[in-house]
Amino acid sequence: MTERYVVAIDQGTTSTRCIVFDRRGRLVSVAQQEHKQYFPRPGWVEHDAAEIWRNVERLAPEALRQAGIDAGQVAAIGIANQRETTVLWDRRTGHPIGHAIVWQDTRTDDLVRELRRRPGAAVVEHDSALPMATYFSGPRISWMLDHRPGLRQRAERGEILFGTMETWLIWNLTGGLHVTDVTNASRTMLLDVHTLDWSPAALTFFGIPRAMLPQVRASIGGFDTARHAFPGVRIGAALGDQQAALFGQTCFAPGEAKCTYGTGSFLLLNTGDELVRSTHGLLSTVAYQIEGGPAAYALEGSIAITGSLVQWFRDQLELIASAPEIETLARTVTDNGGCYIVPAFSGLFAPHWRSEARGVIVGLTSYITKGHLARAVLEATAWQTREVVDAMNADSGLDLSTLRVDGGMTADNLLMQYVADVLDVPVVRPLAAETVSLGAAYAAGLAVDYWPDLEGLRQNWHRAAQWLPTMDPAARDREYRNWQRAVQRTFDWTR
Ligand code: G3P
Repeated sequence: MTERYVVAIDQGTTSTRCIVFDRRGRLVSVAQQEHKQYFPRPGWVEHDAAEIWRNVERLAPEALRQAGIDAGQVAAIGIANQRETTVLWDRRTGHPIGHAIVWQDTRTDDLVRELRRRPGAAVVEHDSALPMATYFSGPRISWMLDHRPGLRQRAERGEILFGTMETWLIWNLTGGLHVTDVTNASRTMLLDVHTLDWSPAALTFFGIPRAMLPQVRASIGGFDTARHAFPGVRIGAALGDQQAALFGQTCFAPGEAKCTYGTGSFLLLNTGDELVRSTHGLLSTVAYQIEGGPAAYALEGSIAITGSLVQWFRDQLELIASAPEIETLARTVTDNGGCYIVPAFSGLFAPHWRSEARGVIVGLTSYITKGHLARAVLEATAWQTREVVDAMNADSGLDLSTLRVDGGMTADNLLMQYVADVLDVPVVRPLAAETVSLGAAYAAGLAVDYWPDLEGLRQNWHRAAQWLPTMDPAARDREYRNWQRAVQRTFDWTR
């Protein structure tokens, strides 16, 4: 019998990847393409959705060719995507209306401030289990409809469609199916997380016509067959990339958590079929839903800027030529020299939710070298993790005992050691580092019985690396206090 495989499409903030996995969850091939980042004004971040779809069309055959297989050997496709990024397109032509507005974009800052004061804001926050913030898609759709003459009327007539990236890709893969999955829908502020359908109150509040919204489906099992890129292959699953990473880390049971270190970093704790509301600045979100079953929920600590701070250090300051060099540069010094960088480039997300905050570098003296700055860049990721872990512990009443990590930044040993040090818990990374794609593949494979059940998938999780805390408690406390003082400065420095 011919061997069969599962393909994941990981549509991330900086690149798109098609990855082929075998039955043991091993990566067989990977084809990857970066897409252009547009920064037209301070705080604005855009993508060209048409470019992203072209990349998928090109990467699909390349991944299959590298694996030495054809589409007939693919049991299912799973999609994992950057969440909250907002695409509008013309139903008839399929052409995007302008650029997609990316999750890091803060142009809706003023609008969000005004929305917070509008009657009904509290109901929308309650139904969506999200705080009113620039991060989510709802305010962005509203902004787009307001800023293009005639667009709202066209949307009301059903001529304009909205989607996050998985919706856009499924539309193009299938040639016109307009659907989303519950995890992505739960990031729009438009979903009622209890009924798992669009909230009429939220649509009225944001002034968004129902006709432009996709149908909400379960993450696993609810999709059709592709006609393009992977013709004839069933789309088995679609999940937001952070939910996919939770799945790929096999955190299927309540109490299990992971943190993915990418452009931003996202710590998710599975809370089972109970929606837990945070009182410490975390989000409640849908973790996944298998068709016909209840939704599993998660508490999430979202950090907007971690890997993208390293990118900024590389591309805007040009202090390193490639991202991995930051570790080498940071190792040229033994500490941060008293310097702290708080990267509030998109305001601050969890646990602060201050969209008006702006980034600061504090503690500069003529002693500071680029080595100290490199350390401060890495330490910013660790301290931001500490802030969300503190919130998670306070919300759950339990202390996290180990942290499962994944994502590109976990290749940085200095950073991972510092994370273990500031959290004072062991940090562990699995052998399968591509947990976002693996999670999408697992989910798709389950949908078509390529893998029988969740328990079987757990057997594939193997520890590859571990970092144990070694930091002196007094030093940890002192550094944390300094970090918190630096964070305060980001609130003072507003536009
Ligand atoms: O919520 C944003 C998140 O989904 C982005 O993830 O990995 O593309 O930076 P990533």
